[in-house]
Amino acid sequence: MDIYQIRPFHIDDYDAVFALWRETEGVGLSQADERPAIARYLDRNPGLSFVATMHSRIIAAVLCGHDGRRGFIHHLAVQAEYQKQGIGQALVERCVDALRQEGIDKCHLFVYATNANARTFWRRLDWQPRDDLVLMSKMIR
Ligand SMILES: CC(C)(COP(=O)(O)OP(=O)(O)OC[C@H]1O[C@@H](n2cnc3c(N)ncnc32)[C@H](O)[C@@H]1OP(=O)(O)O)[C@@H](O)C(=O)NCCC(=O)NCCS
Repeated sequence: MDIYQIRPFHIDDYDAVFALWRETEGVGLSQADERPAIARYLDRNPGLSFVATMHSRIIAAVLCGHDGRRGFIHHLAVQAEYQKQGIGQALVERCVDALRQEGIDKCHLFVYATNANARTFWRRLDWQPRDDLVLMSKMIR
């Protein structure tokens, strides 16, 4: 495989990252993923989200942030032809290192229950599914 590079996710990467998310099964998109919302997320969580590039083209991305207590990882996606080459794991390690440097000691993430590939990936990286919790959500606007 050609060498890939990992660097912070900048809002200028938005169009390429959004296209990657749209074409990657397993990533759920909503209004919260439109450019202004992602710009706000990146502003509020500087240096925690990353992209992987090859020949300057984005081939993988991840959003990461924290609320002062816990870290959160969202929308990890590796372009199909580059999967299973360690890029997803490398992006997660960058997120986790960055969270540690912010003094965060636990990180959560959301996986569709039907996304067996992602569940296997996260288990392989030692992330524990939580059978004691149920995710609850409400539209508030
Ligand atoms: C899930 C995803 C991010 C994994 O990225 P990746 O770069 O392919 O994963 P890596 O190569 O870093 O894999 C790390 C480990 O997980 C394992 N793994 C990854 N995908 C796997 C799969 N589908 N089935 C079994 N094992 C898998 C790898 O074999 C590797 O284990 P190893 O070290 O024993 O070889 C990628 O498949 C993807 O983008 N999927 C679509 C989007 C998605 O579902 N995102 C998750 C949202 S929660």
